[in-house]
Amino acid sequence: MIKSIKGTRDILPPESSGWQYMENTARKIFGLYGYREIRTPIIEETALFVKTIGEETDIVSKEMFSFTDRGERHISLRPEGTAPVIRAYLENNLDKLSQLQKLYYIGPMFRAERPQAGRMRQFHQIGVEAIGSTHPAIDAEVIKVMTDILDESGIGDYNLKINNLGCREDKKRLSENLKKTFSGKESSHLCEDCAKRIKINPLRILDCKNEKCRKSVREKFTGVEFLCDTCSDHFQEVQEFLKVLNINYQLDPYIVRGLDYYTGTVFEVTHRALGSQDAIGAGGRYDNLISDMGGAKTGACGFALGLDRMLLVLEKVSEGKAVPEAMDVFVAAMGKEAYAMAFSILDNMRNDGIACDIDYENKSLKAQMRTADRLKAKFVMIIGDEELKKGEAVVRDMVTKEQSNIAFSGLVRFVKDKII
Ligand code: HAM
Repeated sequence: MIKSIKGTRDILPPESSGWQYMENTARKIFGLYGYREIRTPIIEETALFVKTIGEETDIVSKEMFSFTDRGERHISLRPEGTAPVIRAYLENNLDKLSQLQKLYYIGPMFRAERPQAGRMRQFHQIGVEAIGSTHPAIDAEVIKVMTDILDESGIGDYNLKINNLGCREDKKRLSENLKKTFSGKESSHLCEDCAKRIKINPLRILDCKNEKCRKSVREKFTGVEFLCDTCSDHFQEVQEFLKVLNINYQLDPYIVRGLDYYTGTVFEVTHRALGSQDAIGAGGRYDNLISDMGGAKTGACGFALGLDRMLLVLEKVSEGKAVPEAMDVFVAAMGKEAYAMAFSILDNMRNDGIACDIDYENKSLKAQMRTADRLKAKFVMIIGDEELKKGEAVVRDMVTKEQSNIAFSGLVRFVKDKII
């Protein structure tokens, strides 16, 4: 039997309801803040990611699904959403439409990482990009959109950490500083990967998870002041706006992020219900990316939440009870004529916006009641020969177990009054 590819999986019902619930919650929040949806292709030119995320990053150097197509073009499955959104923004001249573009996306991303709990090769992100402003209120608002989605969907108790990487010059200064500190003898205190990183991508030693590196980095680097005045002021203002929005956060000088395009504000949200892969979401500012890709000099900021991980958390914190099932009514019919009537009632209810279902296998009443239970139907309507003669159905409220006889013509009204 052919099986799904390692690191990918099928999302089956009822789990898929959880995904819809999360996506709908996010869409509702996006609407409140004026974000509109953008859908970009899943494949892009490999060069897009090499130029934006950075050649030396783990994502680009080790984790992309890349191939050469029949026309000898170098193509990759998108490992993230920011670079494609900026490409689309520039290619479609969205910068000409209005100063600020608030865009969101929901969809699959691909990284060839070693699969483990919470780490997939095809995973899914809900993300936003606010493009066209360097205003510090944008940073705070982007973070608020992210925490609103988490709060509204029932994921409490998360931990938000923020940092500021400074502008390109500040990042350069910090890199040099780290290189100096951790070169020579000191490099023996770093793990094998960081011994390489210190030469090619020094900032990444700051967020290495290896205990040896963590210890030596924390001894030698405590977030020394390396920000220029402009970046420092911007960070202060971001924090003031975060306070206005009542957002709880911790400052963490060891957050650097694994993508090169970031400058200024960066942030990460973790949840302790997850294991070693505890980041549910992350983001930050990338004020050079648009001009580096050929656009005007303008600022941008965004985040991406990992949908797979959000659902893992929700499953744990709610013991699987968080997602309400959609079925309002199950119609249990017995006998051919009763079935025809039930089928017509079903159609009336659906036309009136009531979610309902019926049995298609001539099952016994007992078996139909079990189906209704499995579907978590709020009401069951029973229609047999007797009911057909009387022109009414027996309606059972599955929560209170109350039963009433309701005329066929009044069924839609009866259910609507109860469920709305
Ligand atoms: P990222 O930190 O690479 O950022 O990914 C964001 C989130 O995607 C992570 O916090 C995690 O929840 C989820 N994620 C990443 N890799 C995997 C995986 N292999 N399996 C499951 N979940 C995963 C970005 O992608 C940036 N584009 C975010 C951003 C948007 N920055 C600015 N705008």
